[in-house]
Amino acid sequence: VIIQQDRRLARFVDELLDATEIRAGRTSLKLSVVNLGEIIRDVVGKLGLELASSGSAISVSVDNGVLGFWDEMKLSQIVSNLLSNAIKFGLSKPIEIRASMEDDVATFVIRDHGIGIAEERLDAIFDPFERAVSARHYGGLGLGLYVVRELVTAMAGTVQVSSRIDEGSTFTVVLPRSRTT
Ligand SMILES: Nc1ncnc2c1ncn2[C@@H]1O[C@H](COP(=O)(O)OP(=O)(O)OP(=O)(O)O)[C@@H](O)[C@H]1O
Ligand SMILES: [Mg+2]
Repeated sequence: VIIQQDRRLARFVDELLDATEIRAGRTSLKLSVVNLGEIIRDVVGKLGLELASSGSAISVSVDNGVLGFWDEMKLSQIVSNLLSNAIKFGLSKPIEIRASMEDDVATFVIRDHGIGIAEERLDAIFDPFERAVSARHYGGLGLGLYVVRELVTAMAGTVQVSSRIDEGSTFTVVLPRSRTT
């Protein structure tokens, strides 16, 4: 429990720092050739404890060669924030991750079958400190998705959500292989 709380606290601090840096307009990209499949496996490993205690089974399906010219740490943060949400709001139901590449555009999809999001909140959840759940039931700052949207945008990509209350949510990140294509 202590290890888990320690990791949670570390993530809180990271998230606050990320958001602060973004707000100050200080994000700079450190681009290199990055394998999205490896990042996904890495993040799934790091969140293994939380996954296990959530009870959600995870399935990961990644095509070969989902490589791009991306910022490894930022991409890892994007995957991590979205998977943390799927775990937290996933009601112990299965979580599915898919990644593929077509025409120099990578698509990352993460789907859960948890509490879902009310339609009228779907736009707001990407804004800082906006949450669609009560703080009493679910911990969090409301910064995760804000950071995701900012980082995805910095890499010239987009993030979208489709969701139904009580049925689950699907987040889709689309990223060009490189910023210039
Ligand atoms: N997979 C999901 N299923 C249901 N609701 C979600 C999901 N992901 C995000 N949300 C809703 O969007 C809100 C904002 O998400 P975000 O990740 O920014 O904040 P958080 O998870 O509450 O806190 P933090 O990420 O800062 O720890 C959440 O509070 C929740 O209401
Ligand atoms: Mg979150």
